[in-house]
Amino acid sequence: MYDSTTIPNPFRPGTGAYPPVLAGREAEQSTLTEELLRISHASLAGPANPLLLSAPRGMGKTVLLSWLARQAETQDVQVVAAAAGDMPDLAGLAGILWPDSRKTPSRLTSIKAGIVAADWRPPERDRSSSQLRAVLLEHLLQATAGRPTLIQIDEAHTLAPEVANAVCNFAQSLVRADNPVWVVLAGTPGLIAHLTSAQVGASFIERADVMALGGLAPPARLQALEVAEWSDWQIDRAVLELAAQDSQGFPYFLQRWGHALWDAGKQERTLSSDVLAAARRQVDSVRGEFYARRYAEIYDFEDPRLVAAAQALARALLAVGGLSLDATMARIKEAIPTHADAVAARRHLERIGFIYHKGGVFVGGIPSLLRYVTDNAATSA
Ligand SMILES: Nc1ncnc2c1ncn2[C@@H]1O[C@H](COP(=O)(O)OP(=O)(O)OP(=O)(O)O)[C@@H](O)[C@H]1O
Ligand SMILES: [Mg+2]
Repeated sequence: MYDSTTIPNPFRPGTGAYPPVLAGREAEQSTLTEELLRISHASLAGPANPLLLSAPRGMGKTVLLSWLARQAETQDVQVVAAAAGDMPDLAGLAGILWPDSRKTPSRLTSIKAGIVAADWRPPERDRSSSQLRAVLLEHLLQATAGRPTLIQIDEAHTLAPEVANAVCNFAQSLVRADNPVWVVLAGTPGLIAHLTSAQVGASFIERADVMALGGLAPPARLQALEVAEWSDWQIDRAVLELAAQDSQGFPYFLQRWGHALWDAGKQERTLSSDVLAAARRQVDSVRGEFYARRYAEIYDFEDPRLVAAAQALARALLAVGGLSLDATMARIKEAIPTHADAVAARRHLERIGFIYHKGGVFVGGIPSLLRYVTDNAATSA
């Protein structure tokens, strides 16, 4: 008989850690599967429109990218998976698309990175950036002609402008050439603003498909907590339901809850109200740190009035749930009257995922962060 005190905690709170149950993403998974079929279909394979996957921190972008890469590999699609940090400049991008040109292996070693085209040699280091771009594009066109390929870049809202511009242009050229390639860029809700900014200059990317991930609906929250490893535990279902509810559907908090419940109950293999109380203390403490970090992203902005603007916005969002662009700007202007500064403030709040454009209105990115920010207003007043 096995002893669950020796079984590792099945929950995976963290960045990009694959959860024990990938819950509540059926709609997204079916859309992604359909697009994958477009590039991998035996005789009709063609290009897929680039996809921008955007969501606030901790909502499950990286996990969904991992899922997609696994799906792609089972369909014989070659996969290049990387994060913006792996490609600080064009030479870095070359190193990702072309592992030979760089000694260090890709960060995601589980996924075979790089596209290998026969009789192709790495570009010389001292090429100018326009030469390097031309060589890279030529390589890409050759390496993906008739070869289904998925190129996914995580944390794309932090791509260096030069790299972001190259990636977007390459994506466009590959579609035009009819190569069966799909470029997927994931990042915080500031992703689209970043790519279409004057600095990056890839405004055509607005015509890409956009997938905005939201929190998990109530049934999926519970599903995320219902792991097979509980099978020999005494479970009070009300405990799981309360934890699911407290998470507000934020995937990171669900993993935190699962992890804390497992730790608190593993000796007795019981989920009771005492275990719930112990787990809650742990979750609350971690959550406090998480909020403090998110709050610092507001506090540290170059315009110190952003804190007051975020607080005004948080109060309004808590009251009505979603705000139009005009209403959002009006709240920000309570603290930052100048238009240009208020726009810069809104863009920063979007970039960090504090607010988030979904279904035509701005909503709070991480639900209970709004409450934290208004509470901070109360204590700082
Ligand atoms: N659908 C899901 N069901 C259950 N848990 C999930 C789900 N999606 C993500 N998680 C969990 O939530 C946490 C955050 O996921 P992930 O790192 O993919 O988010 P992210 O959006 O990439 O965040 P960041 O912007 O910080 O990189 C992880 O612990 C992950 O296991
Ligand atoms: Mg991530």
